[in-house]
Amino acid sequence: MFLAPRRLCSLGSGAKFLKTIRSSKFLGCSTYGKMSSKLKNAKRIEGLDSSVWTEFTKLAADPSVVNLGQGLPDISPPTYVKEELSKIALVDNLNQYTRGFGHPSLVKALSCLYEKFYPKKIDPNKEIVVTVGAYGSLYNVIQGLVDEGDEVIIMVPYYDCYEPMVRMAGATPVFIPLRPKYVAGKKWSSSDWILDPQELESKFNSKTKAIILNTPHNPLGKVYTKEELQLIADLCIKYDVLCISDEVYEWLVYTGNKHFKIATFPGMWERTVTIGSAGKTFSVTGWKLGWTIGPNHLIRPIQIVQQNTVYTCATPLQEALAQALWVDIKRMNDPECYFNSLPKELEVKRDRIVRLLESVGLKPIAPDGGYFVIADVSSLDVDLSDMKTNEPYDYKFVKWMTKNKKLSAIPVSAFCDSETKSQFEKLVRFCFIKKDSTLDAAEEIIKAWIR
Ligand SMILES: Cc1ncc(COP(=O)(O)O)c(C=O)c1O
Repeated sequence: MFLAPRRLCSLGSGAKFLKTIRSSKFLGCSTYGKMSSKLKNAKRIEGLDSSVWTEFTKLAADPSVVNLGQGLPDISPPTYVKEELSKIALVDNLNQYTRGFGHPSLVKALSCLYEKFYPKKIDPNKEIVVTVGAYGSLYNVIQGLVDEGDEVIIMVPYYDCYEPMVRMAGATPVFIPLRPKYVAGKKWSSSDWILDPQELESKFNSKTKAIILNTPHNPLGKVYTKEELQLIADLCIKYDVLCISDEVYEWLVYTGNKHFKIATFPGMWERTVTIGSAGKTFSVTGWKLGWTIGPNHLIRPIQIVQQNTVYTCATPLQEALAQALWVDIKRMNDPECYFNSLPKELEVKRDRIVRLLESVGLKPIAPDGGYFVIADVSSLDVDLSDMKTNEPYDYKFVKWMTKNKKLSAIPVSAFCDSETKSQFEKLVRFCFIKKDSTLDAAEEIIKAWIR
């Protein structure tokens, strides 16, 4: 059923893997003056050169710009999280390499945490891999489980790295848009964006290897309901498909909504890998630690990719994360537990930014989870005619806004495949995991602009 891709077979040792990767494509002759074909990039990265993060983070780096672009918290991470790291840095042996698939105390803490949500025990050594951020988890999962010629279903809009990662594995992404259901006069909410069940089923066939689910969703903030997840689970089982569930915003769910783990649905544990992120859990995006949880037959191929790429993640960060998790595991039902207090704090910021955008005549999509708000900016009628590029409207709009209004955001069409871009190009994403003073500055800019 879920066999490892051909590229992992015979990768017993790291050296052998490196030999495969460093094929003649990279190590050719060194002709001076003109470019030797042997010094060209590998085909697997062709067409994958643009990244919204590289481009828009550079624009927002100007200190005079108020940055509501990248999902980068400027609120302080919890004090105990930072203190754990500073204490650990003084312990000699915690500054050395640790177990490759996850530092022992961290995988133990993760198994204790997640056992509270799964109807089974989670083996810390066989059913968890710690990775370089959720990005690393996605990469390991796709390299370890998706083969050339496979198809992978991706819901649009999607976190932008899904598509290039699938293509790098030699597989074909198959896109299905979340479609808005318009109700006249009603304010927009992320729950208004839904999958058409027939359309979704039409994307499954014998080549479908996996579907990538993201709940709570970036950029829409949609929290999939139990019924929506059941539909996806039923199709995964019917067509014998793997589910890659990106749940990095699992704790960030607002009043009236609940996060469900598709891996806990009947028949789904054995075909699901679930991805989490320390960066999102504790507002420490710079730590770049993530994890994948699943049954051993899916985790083993992921471990093989890890062993032959980064091998291991930073020990002090892993130990600090383990200690921080223990603090909150022991008080899961208290309001002070960060998993409860952060969504409460963010819900106030969400309401503030939604109100602000509405007050200036925009049409925001109030998110049920995550820390982004999307708004249709076309009513601002900004004159972009002197922007000479043939980029989508939202790219031009955000560049114009960053330069002229000193406010940055992220264009939503960056989260779309080439065919769907035009449906989303009037939408712009604002990040609200920001200090009140940052939101005050954004408010001042937006209000002055409209005046
Ligand atoms: C949906 C989603 N998945 C994965 C990631 C990557 O997370 P990390 O920073 O842990 O690599 C992000 C980061 O913004 C994200 O929004």
